[in-house]
Amino acid sequence: MSIQYDNQTHLFSLQTAHSLYQMKVDSADVLLHLYYGQKTDEDMSYRVRYADRGFSGNPYEQRRNRGYSLDTLPQEYSGSGVGDYRLPAVQAVSENGSRSVDFRFMDYRIDKGRQPLRSLPYVRESEETETLTVTLRDSVIGLDAQLIYHVYPAQDVIVRSVRLVNTGRQELSVEKAASACLDFLYGNYDVIHFHGRHCMERMPERLPLPRGTTSFGSRRGMSSHQSNPFVILCDHLATESTGDCYGCMLMYSGNHLEEMEVNQTGSTRLVSGIHPDGFSWKLAPGESFETPEALLSYSADGLNGLSRHYHDIIRQQVIAPRWQQEKRPVLINSWEAAYFDFDAEKILRFARSATELGVEMLVLDDGWFGKRNDDTTSLGDWTVNEAKLGCSMRELSDQIHAMGLKFGLWFEPEMVNEDSDLFRAHPEWALCDPDRKPMLGRNQMVLDMSRQDVVDYLFDAICAVLDSARIEYIKWDFNRSVANCYSKALPASRQGEVAHRFMLGTYQLLERVLKRYPDLMIEGCSGGGGRFDAGMLFYCPQIWCSDDTDAVERLEIQRGTSYGYPVSTMGAHVSASPNHQTGRTTPIHTRGIVAQSGTFGYELNPALLNAEEKEQVKEQIRAYHRYEHLIAHGSYYRLTELNAEKDHEAWMFVSPDRKEALVNLVCTHVRANGPFPYVRLCGLDPRKKYRLAGSEEIYTGAALMYGGYAAPQLAGDYPAMQLHFISEGDA
Ligand code: DGJ
Repeated sequence: MSIQYDNQTHLFSLQTAHSLYQMKVDSADVLLHLYYGQKTDEDMSYRVRYADRGFSGNPYEQRRNRGYSLDTLPQEYSGSGVGDYRLPAVQAVSENGSRSVDFRFMDYRIDKGRQPLRSLPYVRESEETETLTVTLRDSVIGLDAQLIYHVYPAQDVIVRSVRLVNTGRQELSVEKAASACLDFLYGNYDVIHFHGRHCMERMPERLPLPRGTTSFGSRRGMSSHQSNPFVILCDHLATESTGDCYGCMLMYSGNHLEEMEVNQTGSTRLVSGIHPDGFSWKLAPGESFETPEALLSYSADGLNGLSRHYHDIIRQQVIAPRWQQEKRPVLINSWEAAYFDFDAEKILRFARSATELGVEMLVLDDGWFGKRNDDTTSLGDWTVNEAKLGCSMRELSDQIHAMGLKFGLWFEPEMVNEDSDLFRAHPEWALCDPDRKPMLGRNQMVLDMSRQDVVDYLFDAICAVLDSARIEYIKWDFNRSVANCYSKALPASRQGEVAHRFMLGTYQLLERVLKRYPDLMIEGCSGGGGRFDAGMLFYCPQIWCSDDTDAVERLEIQRGTSYGYPVSTMGAHVSASPNHQTGRTTPIHTRGIVAQSGTFGYELNPALLNAEEKEQVKEQIRAYHRYEHLIAHGSYYRLTELNAEKDHEAWMFVSPDRKEALVNLVCTHVRANGPFPYVRLCGLDPRKKYRLAGSEEIYTGAALMYGGYAAPQLAGDYPAMQLHFISEGDA
């Protein structure tokens, strides 16, 4: 039993393999958060101390007890306006204009397994999953908060969400509905968040949390390049391999907010959920609202330890079972090879040269539909441009399959160009405020995915293309931020629902397409990695990590992404040199090593490779197949510290049985007479002997992990090396 309730002490204890999460119903029926950390059987109630603090008032029924204040006690899910002045988890407006929400414990239930969410992606049930539902009630306004906890013991993850239910007789307007609220009674923490921009996503920034509120989030209608819905709180001294680390990852692809507040006495509150700016949801009597899920995890083994929990839960319970063990095809994508300038003959030439190199799938990117020869036209018109191709999609896909390749196609379903038949027929289907001109992004507008007729149209349009040819893969793009988030289909009073309904429409479309084509692989994309989140990963086993394909920049982007997401989800391709985004020249060997730590592929014209490069590509593809079991299913470790001064970046994979490891190292700064690139390996068995493949060198796991490995000095521009260690049994 991973969930226990003690009737005497009113204590809820949620246990994973290495953690304990504890809360308690106190004598005033307030649900207090007691502890989240290392696993133990202790009752942690003693951690709560009571003190009379000036300007921290007392609930009416506690008026003689000035030491009891909602403002100083650790709350499991904070209300608002009733004396807890810290960040609220929920905000709601009653018909009389009151904004107060005051929750008290009602009841609980413990269930084996879990129910899926009704209309949002969720963490799939494992054999061990148990669920705790605690109902809190504000009986004055008639609002229940059902706090839902799914425990995944093996992965050390607790998944939280909240269902708000209107149990009263009046309509409520929900203005904020966080997925999780987590109070840390004591301790000082650093926050690591993942900021960025187009072509430079998920850059980790580590900051000591100051007093007051610190927040990160997105109001762009997408999880965004600028701020990933994932934060880590860690001990000031935590490193990649040591120290307390807590993660909170929101499984959502729309607007989100992660808030942290350090209060007057140094306690910290973390609140995460849908961004409340612009959000409001009408809740009529009897109606309910479900929040996205938040994946919480704790590790005492530093940032690498925490990342492994997220890698495990995503690989095992978020990615669809259909793709969990499936080897992903090595693909070649037409975008950087041809952009909009292609016909079927050119694509077939790519395919022919790619087959000779060992590539397994060809993806035809943007430009095959409507009248699209640049980015000004045709989004929304998902009909094949046979005049441009010179043949039908069926003919093209048949010829590609005849070469032994799979075939994939690009779509950008949620968008429309003003210059399109779709917009001419249905201007009301684009999001836009009445009496205003829309904001454009890449010359395009955003379709109103909150409308069922729009979702139905897109479903039919996508199915028509998929039925017309053999297509095994879709790249699902999203190339601008949302603005003018106004739906012509909803009344004025419900416009605050549009951004969330937009996401529900997108998820519904993905769900329906996948239900109809269960073998279709969808790769997520949003101008690279603008929607790289656990919500999209529920549908898409891989996501194009960034439009920046420069191998040196990718070191940072893929490293940043790895804090929350496994490399088996990161689309990574070898592209041409000089690189199209940075103009940098890097060796093809280095580009291969970097792209191999992802779902591997190519993004170049293979006909332009010289004979030596072609041989290298063939060897890269062979190596990818050789090491795929380690890369996709092994444990991943970053071997260099965040923010450390360094001339190289290094990372490694270890097989689950610890018999094999693959170490990758790229020199980002070669120095004359410089130091040897030195790394300490992780995750090996200290008692085993490991041979460095292709050499006579044998080391114990203890030597490689404690004494480390000094690589020979490398020369040239951005040189790289890959070291494969294989166990030769016990030392
Ligand atoms: C943005 C994607 O990230 C690129 O790979 C490419 O598909 C373009 N869109 C096409 O418009």
